[in-house]
Amino acid sequence: MQVIETIDGLRSARRALRGRVGVVPTMGALHDGHLALVEQARQDNDAVIVTIFVNPTQFAPGEDFASYPRDLQRDVALLQGAGADFVFTPTPALMYPPGFQTYVKVDQVTQGLEGDRRPGHFRGVATVVAKLFNLTQPDVAYFGQKDAQQVVVLRRMVADLNFPLEVAVIPTVRESDGLAMSSRNAYLTPEQRPAAGVIYRALVAAAQAYEEGERTPAHLRQVVKSVLKTEPLAEVEYVALNDPTTLVGVHEASEHPLLLSLVVRVGKPFLLDNCLLPWALNTRAGLSATLGV
Ligand code: PAJ
Repeated sequence: MQVIETIDGLRSARRALRGRVGVVPTMGALHDGHLALVEQARQDNDAVIVTIFVNPTQFAPGEDFASYPRDLQRDVALLQGAGADFVFTPTPALMYPPGFQTYVKVDQVTQGLEGDRRPGHFRGVATVVAKLFNLTQPDVAYFGQKDAQQVVVLRRMVADLNFPLEVAVIPTVRESDGLAMSSRNAYLTPEQRPAAGVIYRALVAAAQAYEEGERTPAHLRQVVKSVLKTEPLAEVEYVALNDPTTLVGVHEASEHPLLLSLVVRVGKPFLLDNCLLPWALNTRAGLSATLGV
């Protein structure tokens, strides 16, 4: 495995590759969720490029850009084990040199949910991912269900800007109590960590209600909220039901699949999670067919 720190180095490595190339963009501080993307990329492709870049443009002022966990040595060792061929680790100055002024703005699907909670976030994500696509020229790019709106935004961008690649979606990888793995879980204290398990129980309760025939969005959200309320350390930011293709809010009962997403604050971190309803859609095939365009 080769660690590449320059644009020229990446371009020449890419030019030498033949066959199918998979790319996995990350911000590092890798955990088993990231590694599931890398392992899938390994299975599907002849070569795998992982990028590690804590992208300043997707952090709003006051967010955790400076304190975001970074451990390149550990990440490189994990990626070697997962079978990556190349790791691209640019600096902010390399990705955003002086005079940089071109951004990718995806319109409707960046509104609502995380787009509202984190103004400018998806402009930063779309911009850096467009740059990484141009640099790595993948056949397939891998993203996690964990950040479902990000998948919808990037699939929209790929379609609208004619990037010649497929966006693959990998189901959320969870801890044993169901908490979605996240680099920001490191911010949870030992007292807060067990409390965060309530999030998954809330999703499962909604999925169960859906299974039993509940379709009214207000009722499904109530099921989620009533489970979250049992945990005093959990502060609800939002619980939302959206059309998984367009992210338009759903307020009437329907038989179309739904994206149930929520953000709950436990101590310092805002914890994100989501599932598709019906629950059976939360597979690679179900997600790829249902989330975004
Ligand atoms: P990051 O948060 O490092 O996540 C990198 C990828 O791993 C994303 O596609 C994310 O959805 C996926 N991922 C994170 N936790 C996961 C889990 N528990 N199960 C499955 N997949 C998981 O998302 C970003 O970085 C950035 O926005 C990026 C796309 C790299 C652009 O800067």
